[in-house]
Amino acid sequence: MNDLKTLFDLALASESIMRSLYRRSAKFFSHLPRIVEFCARMEKDEILHIEKLLALRDSLSLEQLSQPVDPGELKALREIKKDFPDEAFEKMENLDDFYELANELEFSETNAIFQSLFKKHSPSSRETRSFLLLHDTHQENLVVLSEEFPRAERQKILTAR
Ligand SMILES: [Fe+2]
Repeated sequence: MNDLKTLFDLALASESIMRSLYRRSAKFFSHLPRIVEFCARMEKDEILHIEKLLALRDSLSLEQLSQPVDPGELKALREIKKDFPDEAFEKMENLDDFYELANELEFSETNAIFQSLFKKHSPSSRETRSFLLLHDTHQENLVVLSEEFPRAERQKILTAR
């Protein structure tokens, strides 16, 4: 199906993948309180993203949800699902692996599609603007982390297992 409902389903699945990354990583870095705190905050954001997406989807009519969408967007979201199976997170060996995965997901087309769903379909543009600003902060948290832990340092911080 090439409809908006499918795009929402795939976007929700992508948000769950991101949530899963942060939930698992908190366990991998349980010896590092700063990373545990970071992952907990990011996971909380992902839960909010899921709730906001669900609310947005529920605010639309069946007619709106059955409208066709750009097949390119569906394809991009399907690829994220394929590229990040659960095993992708299990292979994580150090903080740099975590950073690379998070960076790839947070700055992927997935999040661009996520944002465009709100821009195109939200009934309240004011609320959307403030939510999207929050989303920018969510992505920036990762940039802050990378400055706090430069690459060479990240590679030295191993996962606990
Ligand atoms: Fe998200």
